[in-house]
Amino acid sequence: MANEERPILLLNGPNLNTLGLRQPEIYGTATLADVVALVERTAADLGYGVRALQTNHEGEMIDAIHAARGQISGIVVNPAGWTHTSVALADALVVPEVPVIEVHISNVAAREPFRHHSYVSPIASAVIAGCGIRGYEYAVRQMVTLVS
Ligand code: DQA
Repeated sequence: MANEERPILLLNGPNLNTLGLRQPEIYGTATLADVVALVERTAADLGYGVRALQTNHEGEMIDAIHAARGQISGIVVNPAGWTHTSVALADALVVPEVPVIEVHISNVAAREPFRHHSYVSPIASAVIAGCGIRGYEYAVRQMVTLVS
């Protein structure tokens, strides 16, 4: 099946719609639209399409992951606050049976202790943290290496 028919699923969790406004000293000034454009550009250069979703509603993200089963090559996800709280999201991410790469804009390991644990990392092929929004680009490059 052609790559265009199996896009990369880009998921951004709660509050990431406020990128560029929220704590720019931690998350930078780029917006979510900038992130999506970066991911789309990087994926297109490598022959892949992108399906992007940001939501503040955990059930909506879980439903979207279930619906993507059989339709996507891999998942690049910044689970945001759900990283540290959601068994349900981690459980959903294995349903499509494709590689998952976890991205954090900030270096979560260098922040508050409650950010040091991730429910997603054990099911992720790779974790990228602390590279700013460039981390999404690196995740796409690694995803294509894994799935091509
Ligand atoms: C984040 C880190 C999380 O701890 C936080 O809740 C976020 C963003 C990051 O991209 O650095 O919302 O995932």
